[in-house]
This record gives sequence, C-alpha cells and structure tokens, in this order.
Amino acid sequence: MFNFVFENATKVYFGKGCVKEHLPEILKNYGDTVMVAYGGGSVKKTGVYDEIVSILKDNGKKVVDFASIMPNPTYAKVLEGAKLARENGVSLILGVGGGSVMDCCKAVSLAAVSKADVWENFWAKPGVIDFEPLPLCVVVTASGTGSECNGGAVITNEALKIKTGRDYPQCNPRFAMLDPTYTYSLPMGQMISGAFDTLSHIMETYFGEPNEDNVSDSISEALMKSVIRNLRAAIKNPEDYDARANLMWCATMAENRIIKLGKKPDFECHAIEHQLGAYTDCNHGRGLAVIHPVYYRHIYKYGLPKFVRFAQEVWGIERGTKSDEELAAAGVEALAAFIKEIGLPTTLRELGVTDKAALKEIADSCGISAGSYKRMTHEEILEIFEECF
Ligand code: NZQ
Ligand code: ZN
Repeated sequence: MFNFVFENATKVYFGKGCVKEHLPEILKNYGDTVMVAYGGGSVKKTGVYDEIVSILKDNGKKVVDFASIMPNPTYAKVLEGAKLARENGVSLILGVGGGSVMDCCKAVSLAAVSKADVWENFWAKPGVIDFEPLPLCVVVTASGTGSECNGGAVITNEALKIKTGRDYPQCNPRFAMLDPTYTYSLPMGQMISGAFDTLSHIMETYFGEPNEDNVSDSISEALMKSVIRNLRAAIKNPEDYDARANLMWCATMAENRIIKLGKKPDFECHAIEHQLGAYTDCNHGRGLAVIHPVYYRHIYKYGLPKFVRFAQEVWGIERGTKSDEELAAAGVEALAAFIKEIGLPTTLRELGVTDKAALKEIADSCGISAGSYKRMTHEEILEIFEECF
C-alpha cells in the first residue's frame, strides 16, 4: 500500500426525506441569499425545485436562480454563474442535479471569489487555492459521478476543445443530500449510464498498483458486485428503493477518495472519454462503456494477477482448465457482455461519431495516465478508437 493522507470535508445526509428534514438546519448558518443552481429543467418537472424553494422561503432566504446548466458543463457557464453569484451577494450555492450541476457549482464557487482566470489557474494546470470558495451544498438527483463527496469538477473549455477535471479538497461540497427517491424520475438510459460511470470509477481504481493484498481492492470488489446486482434490480424495477439506495451510495463510495487510498489509480479510460466528450459532447457513461472493454483487451496481459482476480471475484468465473491469461480475458469478456446486457453502446458510431478521420486529432489530445498497467501512447489510443469505431 502506498502512503496517503485522508480528508473528506463533506457532511452527508442520506435517505428518503433527508432534504426536508435537514436543509432548514443547514440554512441557519448562512446569509440571506441562496443561489439555486440546476440543469435543463428536470427538477421543475419532478417537483424537487418547488420543494427546495419553499424550504428556502420558509427559512427567510432570498432565492437567486441559476438555471440551464448543461450536461458536460462549459467554462462559459461557470463564468455566467460566478457573475450572478457576485452581483447578488450570494452566501450559499445550492446545486440540485447530477454531476454536471455539481461540477459547475464547484467551479462557480471558485470563480465567484477568485480575481484570477479560473480556467488558466485551476483547470489548465493544477493550482493553489489560498482563499475560501463560496460554500456549496448539493442535492443529488442523478447518481453516478460521486461528485457530491469530493472536490473534483470536470469542465469543458469549448474554445480549446478540452474537457478536464481537477480535484481540490477546498471544492468539496460542505453538505451533500442524497435522497434515492429523487433518482426515480431519471430516464432509464441515464440511470444505466450513471451506474456504469460508478463501475468505471471502481475499475479504474482497482486496475492499478499495488497488486498485493490491500483494503482498497477488497472494498472495490464488494462495490463492483453491488453495482452490478443493484443495477440489474433497478432495471427490473426502477422504484426499487434498496436498489436505488445502493447504487447511490456505491457512487459516493467510489469517489469519496476512500478506495483510492494507498493506490495508484489508472483513469486512462476517463482521460480518453473526456476528450471524446470535448469533441463530440457524448454522454459520459455511454462513452466509457464503449472504451472500457477495448482498452482492457489492450492492457490485461500487463496486469494479469488483478485481471484474474476480477474474473474470479467479480464475475464468479471458475478457473477450470483455464490459464491465467484465458481467465483474465474471460473477465474482460464478462464485462463486455454485461455492457450489452444493460443496453449500453459498444461502438463509437452508436455515440454519433461518424467521421473516422477525425479520430486521430481526438486521440492526440488525450492525456496519458501514469497509473496504467501499460503506459499508452497516442498511437495506441488511436488503435483503440479504431477498434471501437
Ligand atoms: O438537466 P436536467 O434537466 O436536470 O436533466 C439531467 C441531464 O439531462 C438529467 N437528470 C438529472 N437528474 C434527473 C434527471 N432527469 C430526470 N430526473 C432526475 N432526477 O440527467 C441528465 C444528465 O445529467 P448529468 O448531470 O450530466 O449526468 P451525470 O451525473 O452523469 O454527470 C456527468 C458529468 O459529470 C462529469 C462528467 O464528465 C460529466 O460532465 N464527471 C464528474 C466527476 C466528478 N466530479 O467527480 C467524475 C466523473 O468521472 C465525471 O467525469
Ligand atoms: Zn466518470
């Protein structure tokens, strides 16, 4: 296990009814003006917006609306939110939505206070936050990214065609409210893509050193099995509370830093997907589903012991007469079969990518992970894209 320092500043409220029960006590510690940030309008259709705004009004707060945060939030949207927050003297940001809303709010919490160019200083390269960002509370309506319990924010700079994430502990939401019933209204496709994102976060952490016995890998195996089991249950019955609750908490557990402790995670699939997203605006979980099996076919021989463990522990594949290599490959194929079973895409064309010639530029723009069992080159990423096409 590698050395680590652990900190997580987010206070989590979990369970049915948690917003109604706990939001009023949170509000007591903040000023008069709360910015309610949300996406394209699902929260208005579901009634979550009205519920929250009435709690705010009952507690004497003035509400500033920051609407229309798009999936794959842009830097321009961050600047719009920061201006709104500054002009209205906002004392608390309340982000209500999925990963896109939460990430945008984290960046707004910096940009509203910082006098510097936030992209240049904190996303183009890692920066030092020596000021207090605006306080943030998030109410999760789409689980998957785990953004609610970390300081990570993935932002797209449309002009530069770069989608990238940074994780600053100062950007952890102060409070995260997770009511699994808020996710019932998610379209089936988004529920599946969010759960696959969670599975991807766990796999990208698991398939990295150390290979010796460590707590993280054991927790990760339990989490992967839970995501697989509960996603199947939620597909059968979208209002299965336990399935939704487990998916929601697995998403948080995957990205609250706990399973990364003592590990060197990979996250190459994320680096590839983020650039695919920067160029095509594809859905994050769907992009990952296309890339994962093909990427693992490229690297499993270099991380054989872990891929053997994955096949046996996660997918329950018996060794029989199989060699390590055959067993490891069977685990990767079990993952590929699961992706088909849950209806996620398996090709770039299904994601809407039609121009094969454009793939080289996207491949060349991808980051290279130092944690991969096999260090990628841009040529090999292009091969992966071509195999995905
Ligand atoms: O915009 P609205 O109308 O709210 O609709 C959203 C959106 O269209 C809809 N939705 C959310 N909750 C709903 C709902 N529809 C009905 N009922 C509800 N209860 O779902 C759609 C997708 O939302 P989005 O927030 O984009 O999805 P997700 O949570 O998958 O977030 C994706 C973003 O997070 C980034 C991704 O790259 C992507 O930009 N990530 C953030 C990470 C982090 N901060 O730690 C890590 C991840 O790896 C990821 O990169
Ligand atoms: Zn992700």
